[in-house]
Amino acid sequence: MQDSQKCKLVLIHGFPFDSSMWNSVLSLLESRYHVVNLNLPGFGNRPSIPNGSIADWARDIEKQIREQNISEQVDLCGLSMGGYVALEFAAQFPSRLSRLILCDTKTTIDTSEARSVRLTMADRLASGDESVVQQTMHQLADDMPSKLLSATTINSDQQLVEEVKQMILSIPPATLAAAQRSMADRRDTTEVIRSLDCPVVGIVGSDDEITPTQLMRDIIQTAKRGHLEIIEQAGHLPPLEKPTNFVAAL
Ligand code: MLT
Repeated sequence: MQDSQKCKLVLIHGFPFDSSMWNSVLSLLESRYHVVNLNLPGFGNRPSIPNGSIADWARDIEKQIREQNISEQVDLCGLSMGGYVALEFAAQFPSRLSRLILCDTKTTIDTSEARSVRLTMADRLASGDESVVQQTMHQLADDMPSKLLSATTINSDQQLVEEVKQMILSIPPATLAAAQRSMADRRDTTEVIRSLDCPVVGIVGSDDEITPTQLMRDIIQTAKRGHLEIIEQAGHLPPLEKPTNFVAAL
């Protein structure tokens, strides 16, 4: 199939990663889709938006799609933080969507405890004190893999565990701080799902402890045209943990 005839698939990465988190599925996806792998503001080479909200980030995604001269509808796929942005995009630009694909994400806001943990981390990352910044970055890189990856992945794929750590350490601390602040202030988007006429596909790892399968099932059940795919033995990052199964689900 010629690239111009393929369905456009826009990818939005999760936290604390940039668009390179999709690298293990890109070649598999490109045989089927015209893939548009985007960075959120401040990530990769994308300029930041000072005090940008998740809604501002959704407008930036729409701008990036226009900059690529894509005028037709797109399949929009966001993972976790990318899902928060995809939901805001769906609220603002519903007619731009052929499908909304939500991976390991949620529509609800943070608990007050989770919000305060985020803001404390943001303060430390933006403190300007290099030793505090480095200590916070290394703590994040050490702690996150066991939260993000399933026990199966951790026990069988030490290389991926190491890659995840390195990916985290490659993101600028100020960018991570800004992302934590934007996520802490996000709104509840449950009603957005209900309002959409396009298909809404949920994909979630069976062992995801951050966004458990039941939570994703509840979200997808509110959609007019919802469908849920569960990726066995994956945690919060199915595209990295089970790339072939993830692409088949998509
Ligand atoms: C992500 O994977 O993007 C994060 O779990 C999102 C969050 O911190 O809420």
